[in-house]
Amino acid sequence: MGMFDTVMKRLIPAVGVVAGGSFAMITTLNDDWDDYLHIQTGSTSTPDKIVILGSGWAALNALRKCAAPNTEVVVVSPRPHFLYTPLLASSSVGTITLRSAKEPLRNLIEKAANKGGSATFVRAEARDIDYLNRKVWASTGSDGMELELSYDKLIIAVGCQPNTFGIPGVKEHGYFMKEAEDSAKLHARLLSNLEKASALSQGSGNKYNTEIDRLLKIVVVGGGPTGVELSAELADFANSDAAKIYGQEIADRIQIILIEVMPRLLMPFDASLSEVARQHLVSKGVEVRLGTAVTYVEPKDVTCQPSTPRNATKEQKSAAAANATSEEIGCLVWAAGIGARTLVKNLAQKLGQTDMRGLKVDEDLHVLGTDGIYAIGDAALSGFPPTAQVAAQQGKHVGRAIRDREDSKFIYHHTGSLCSLGSNNGIAQLLVPQGSTGIWDALGSQAIGKDGDERSLTGLPALAMWRSLYWTKLLSTSSRLSLGGDWINVFFNGRDIVEPVLKRTNSIKQPVESFGTSLQRNKTIRLVSKPQTLATDPEEVVKRKKRFWLF
Ligand SMILES: Cc1cc2nc3c(=O)[nH]c(=O)nc-3n(C[C@H](O)[C@H](O)[C@H](O)COP(=O)(O)OP(=O)(O)OC[C@H]3O[C@@H](n4cnc5c(N)ncnc54)[C@H](O)[C@@H]3O)c2cc1C
Ligand SMILES: NC(=O)c1ccc[n+]([C@@H]2O[C@H](COP(=O)([O-])OP(=O)(O)OC[C@H]3O[C@@H](n4cnc5c(N)ncnc54)[C@H](O)[C@@H]3O)[C@@H](O)[C@H]2O)c1
Repeated sequence: MGMFDTVMKRLIPAVGVVAGGSFAMITTLNDDWDDYLHIQTGSTSTPDKIVILGSGWAALNALRKCAAPNTEVVVVSPRPHFLYTPLLASSSVGTITLRSAKEPLRNLIEKAANKGGSATFVRAEARDIDYLNRKVWASTGSDGMELELSYDKLIIAVGCQPNTFGIPGVKEHGYFMKEAEDSAKLHARLLSNLEKASALSQGSGNKYNTEIDRLLKIVVVGGGPTGVELSAELADFANSDAAKIYGQEIADRIQIILIEVMPRLLMPFDASLSEVARQHLVSKGVEVRLGTAVTYVEPKDVTCQPSTPRNATKEQKSAAAANATSEEIGCLVWAAGIGARTLVKNLAQKLGQTDMRGLKVDEDLHVLGTDGIYAIGDAALSGFPPTAQVAAQQGKHVGRAIRDREDSKFIYHHTGSLCSLGSNNGIAQLLVPQGSTGIWDALGSQAIGKDGDERSLTGLPALAMWRSLYWTKLLSTSSRLSLGGDWINVFFNGRDIVEPVLKRTNSIKQPVESFGTSLQRNKTIRLVSKPQTLATDPEEVVKRKKRFWLF
């Protein structure tokens, strides 16, 4: 037997064992064995009409589990892709490409449709919910189509939106870190400011020094996990790629300021880990300003003042206001928290709920005061934090309840919290199995948490855990390959500095963008207004929009 045969005889089983082991590990970690082992119930004469609002963590996990021969599912969302939010901060400085963070819905819808029932995606934004008559109204956007959807079960999984707390100028002049577009816009702005500063620095004398310093001052507001992860990525970019590409002189002038109103960063984490994060950011050159509130934002200016307690007296408030200072900045990113979407607030109000931060749900995740409506993820007030971990588990729970036609209490399994601190550091606060302390001690882990029952992990082991965990949780092999490729590429070639193209040229669109099981065959959706053909004359468009059709 030749050498080749011997190698192959050993290699093939080894590759098989590794592939099988990885598959089993990823499936177990994601709690997805029922995708393969669940025995589908037979098709009934009247499948349940399920409408899912949203295409994020909660919605797509629900879709995955509820797709079955006895369901007819329609997913409604303005976003035709799933966004893997933990990768957003690194995509805004080109550490990864947005392709790795975006999963096309088409594949997920097709997989769901293959489970024997029907599954359709409609690109539209839900505007209103009539919970008494079981109807949802959705709009396809600028082309003005209105859709009416009827349902047996409705899943509200529309997430949340950045909260500006009514602070003047934030909405108009701030950058955000919530959607893929936000990341692309910030990336474009950073690169454009660097190019401008670089061009001005070619001039003679120091005539443009003030403007160069302004362009290179980046303010991140909010020391929660989003603001901290973003500041670390910005610092890595400034210290490595910016120095290589734009020169050390420009890189040295980049200022990254992280502003947090509370006395410490990362409030959901143990104080010891917050301090590790703060020290790491400072060591990378980030200026961390704690106990400071942003109160006013202008196109090239931000105003801050010392923060005051929630129950501050008039005197305390005016003393803080008297100490307000303004400074010129090149860019401000608002990562100061999240709030409910209008659709959610409107329904909460109709239901007489008083807390407008989300929809109050019972232990099975039904919206209180409704029949057949669930709210999950960031849109729900379920007593759990607004994280992807919670949203994914709630999505699976509700999807299974619908598939099996049996509601049950949602039980959250928290495994821990992780936060990346850029290319060489991270922090983790973990719930570890009892009896495994030896391994954790060897990794330098400390007992933390209120009762000392959690474990901390910092440095490279925490970053390795962050990377491997989030890598396994990506929704497809294609995204895993793409992300792995990005990390390797950055290691050898540095970050991507191609300025994202932000403006889309006009294209002729189909009246309603949808895919999956054909719309005409789907009894859930009724199109209530559409133009006969695509008209280009604006007057004709308006005239045609007034005609109504049914199908
Ligand atoms: C930068 C960043 C990093 C994060 N990192 C982590 C992390 O590492 N770990 C973690 O656990 N959590 C993380 N989170 C939090 C996590 O992303 C959210 O908790 C999670 O996305 C919530 O899932 P969701 O399905 O409720 O909402 P989303 O994922 O936001 O999805 C909402 C969906 O609803 C759609 N939608 C919006 N309005 C409408 C409408 N009117 N009609 C129909 N559809 C609508 C949206 O287009 C979207 O598809 C991060 C968040 C951000 C912003
Ligand atoms: N790695 C992770 O696990 C990860 C990463 C990102 C987000 N998330 C989750 O997503 C959710 C949202 O996180 P986030 O970081 O976007 O928001 P957040 O609400 O967790 O943090 C926002 C921070 O901004 C501060 N702030 C508010 N107003 C301010 C002002 N005017 N001036 C200065 N500071 C101000 C708040 O005190 C708070 O610390 C959280 O549940 C978080 O756990 C998790």
